[in-house]
Amino acid sequence: MKLIIVILFACLAGANCMNNGVARTPPMGWLAWERFRCITDCHSFPESCISEKLFMDMADRLDKDGWKDVGYMYVNIDDCWMAKERDATGRLYGDPERFPNGIKALADYVHGKGLKLGIYEDYGKLTCGGYPGSQGHEETDANTFAEWGIDMLKFDGCYSNDSSKAVGYPLMSEALNKTGRPMVYSCSWPAYEGGLPPKVNYTELGEICNLWRNYGDIQDSWDDIVNIIEWWATNQNVLVPAAGPGKWNDPDMLIVGDYSLSVDQSMAQFGMWAILAAPLFMSNDLRDIKPEFVQILQNKEVIAVSQDPMGIQGKRWLNKDKIQTWSRPLQNGQYAVAVLSTRTDGTPYNHSFSLSQLGIPSGAYDLLDLFPKKSMGKFLSKDQISVMVNPNGIVMMRATPVKFAVPLFDIEEWEEYEIFDTL
Ligand SMILES: *[C@@H]1O[C@H](CO)[C@@H](O)[C@H](O)[C@H]1NC(C)=O
Ligand SMILES: *[C@@H]1O[C@H](CO)[C@@H](O)[C@H](O)[C@H]1NC(C)=O
Ligand SMILES: *[C@@H]1O[C@H](CO)[C@@H](O)[C@H](O)[C@H]1NC(C)=O
Ligand SMILES: *[C@@H]1O[C@H](CO)[C@@H](O)[C@H](O)[C@H]1NC(C)=O
Repeated sequence: MKLIIVILFACLAGANCMNNGVARTPPMGWLAWERFRCITDCHSFPESCISEKLFMDMADRLDKDGWKDVGYMYVNIDDCWMAKERDATGRLYGDPERFPNGIKALADYVHGKGLKLGIYEDYGKLTCGGYPGSQGHEETDANTFAEWGIDMLKFDGCYSNDSSKAVGYPLMSEALNKTGRPMVYSCSWPAYEGGLPPKVNYTELGEICNLWRNYGDIQDSWDDIVNIIEWWATNQNVLVPAAGPGKWNDPDMLIVGDYSLSVDQSMAQFGMWAILAAPLFMSNDLRDIKPEFVQILQNKEVIAVSQDPMGIQGKRWLNKDKIQTWSRPLQNGQYAVAVLSTRTDGTPYNHSFSLSQLGIPSGAYDLLDLFPKKSMGKFLSKDQISVMVNPNGIVMMRATPVKFAVPLFDIEEWEEYEIFDTL
């Protein structure tokens, strides 16, 4: 009760407070940018240009191919959707050739499938792709989005400087709030400021944004994934406390199902994004994605790790010989564990660790392998666990505290590890 009062007070006292009730777990869906970029030539590329057809196709696939059922709810438009000028009343509108029915009709279509529609703008004179920016039009644009039925806004930062961003991101947060329509607010702001204090104030971000891009744009590249994970680990003492229900660090889109990643690398990105409590936005072509990638992206056990209601971001605990071991606290005393290999020496590597090395309290745990779902048996937190991890691959597990009346282990071993204290 005390805690609730303190939070309420902090919200009332501050000028802004991200209290819009959405994105309590990391949002999941599909986002156009990484895969479809700014393709606007629909004559040459009718299937891949940024058009209402593309987003309707993706909504159809999310609805029909099991994506919605496992939690992928957002269909998100990125840059290059607009007409090059505002209309006579100063409002944005979709490019009339590529969005002939307008964004409102697209939102209705997406909502009709039980899904949500996200859109893109930029706090600057122009978007990164050269379309009209929101600077000086914050309220008009927020109201336009609300009237269309938009559910999420990605707000980019091209064509504006640091001091105007410091004004613009809170201003848009306030404008969105004033519409009365809850919209997930994704801020690219910290990515433009190097992602770290003192330039970035994570307390403020948590009050005005639901998620934020901390780091560079992901490309279709395994090296990028390794680089992003390394940055997240190096700065985990800053990033982990910044995350929580309604406010997430965003390492950018999932590229699983695109051109570059192997099956092992795909499991590695997906598993690590779950450990990082990252938003899960696929940027791929759901119309012709291969079944092995669908299976990875629809793995319910890994999704449950991502969507854990406590919303605590995971940490790296061990890093040696290009094998990193991470853990993430989950509800009910559970932990997710990931062993990530960036080795390239061609053969699975035998990695041994104990749960007690990963910040996991002493006790007995049931271990479940998540790729594929398979019991690994019971372990005490001090036991050595050995896993074979593929080159550029991952072994992902969930540890569940063992609770039973009759001890299954040798009683002396239990006493030795003071297990009874935790039961
Ligand atoms: C606007 O902010 C207030 C105060 O934090 C909050 O109670 C309300 O839910 C917010 N509304 C929307 C639509 O975000
Ligand atoms: C930043 O941009 C704003 C608005 O465009 C402008 O008024 C201001 O002078 C700029 N500041 C700097 C330091 O360039
Ligand atoms: C960061 O933002 C919070 C909330 O807006 C504010 O109270 C605090 O003073 C800021 N910290 C710094 C170092 O500017
Ligand atoms: C992995 O190493 C551990 C500890 O050295 C050993 O007990 C285990 O048998 C090894 N596993 C395999 C599959 O070689």
